[in-house]
Amino acid sequence: MLALGCDHGGYELMKEVKHHLDQRGIAYQDFGCFGTESVDYPVYAKKVCKAIQDGICEKGILICGTGIGISITANKMKGIRAALCTDCFCAEATRLHNDANVLALGGRVVGPGLALKIVDTFLDTPFSGDERHKRRISMIED
Ligand code: RB5
Repeated sequence: MLALGCDHGGYELMKEVKHHLDQRGIAYQDFGCFGTESVDYPVYAKKVCKAIQDGICEKGILICGTGIGISITANKMKGIRAALCTDCFCAEATRLHNDANVLALGGRVVGPGLALKIVDTFLDTPFSGDERHKRRISMIED
């Protein structure tokens, strides 16, 4: 199960992401927001990350205007490795190397075409499992 969250700056792109996930048959839980009225991105970042921490969801996608505020918030939460991606190379690398469990996107930065490719790359790339990467990930939480 995928956890989804956005603020007003990410709302339009999140609609595209949800449509794409529906087409792919990927289950998700939407933690809001649910419109373009101004809201506070930390609220939604924390809801998504809590669902991952609680084991309700395995991964998450967070979208705000830039992707920055929502990823800063997510990365303050234990066990969360959020990657702000603007290209598929980084989306692939962060899964292979960092075992990132949250993808952050900027709704005012990337267009829907690129964003959906980034989403697919993030969801379809497994963690490499390499010892050096496991070691480095364990050092993040130290
Ligand atoms: C909202 O205007 C904007 O600040 C927010 O979406 C995000 O870009 C913050 O990092």
